[in-house]
Amino acid sequence: MVVAVDGYSSTGKSTVAKLIAKELGLVYIDTGAMYRAVTYFALKSGLFNGDKVDEASLQRALPTLKIHFEHSGESGKSETWLNNESVESEIRGMEVSNGVSVIASIPFVRRFLVEQQQRMGNEGNVIMDGRDIGTVVFPNADVKFFMTASPQVRAKRRYDELIAKGDSVTYEEVEKNVITRDYIDSHRSVSPLVQAEDAIVIDNGDMTIEQEVAFMVSVIKEHCDVC
Ligand code: DC
Repeated sequence: MVVAVDGYSSTGKSTVAKLIAKELGLVYIDTGAMYRAVTYFALKSGLFNGDKVDEASLQRALPTLKIHFEHSGESGKSETWLNNESVESEIRGMEVSNGVSVIASIPFVRRFLVEQQQRMGNEGNVIMDGRDIGTVVFPNADVKFFMTASPQVRAKRRYDELIAKGDSVTYEEVEKNVITRDYIDSHRSVSPLVQAEDAIVIDNGDMTIEQEVAFMVSVIKEHCDVC
């Protein structure tokens, strides 16, 4: 059973996907976190300055990167690990958010991560969120959703999240980041963000999380023997 949840950034894909995973007993895989982890690595190791990437060195280093998810007893949440370090907090900051679209548009990075995502999906019943899950990673996914909301609604959500975390950002900065990422994600030559033809579109600007989850669960149940 594979459920694909694609869509624009800050549409709450991961929030609903986690809740659905819990309700239906599926494994949740956050593919954006994997692109963020590679971006964090590239920044930290001096192969990326937020603008230019040392592609040859990054390509050489990729096979040494082990990305996995682990449940943290302390936070009660799943955390992203890069090699032997939890990078959950680092990958959510503005530096990684500003650079991740550049790293995610590099074809060899996408090939490397898509292969891992396909392996993870083939191991069990999963709900995977990202940009290209229903189009590239699992074109035959059992159920595909495509989430959208206006850039302002999404920027406000991300802004509130960052402020709650204690980051010092302005709303304008976050809105600019959301709009720039939409543009780069939709215009890159490899696996641009596009809606799969058979995806169910959800504009969640006026929906509560509960309404959204209830709707998605009912759709998934129609297609799922193991849920
Ligand atoms: O979902 P997110 O905001 O954490 O994703 C971070 C970035 O990674 C986003 O700008 C687009 C990219 N991404 C991608 O290109 N393909 C995916 N499957 C998931 C994320």
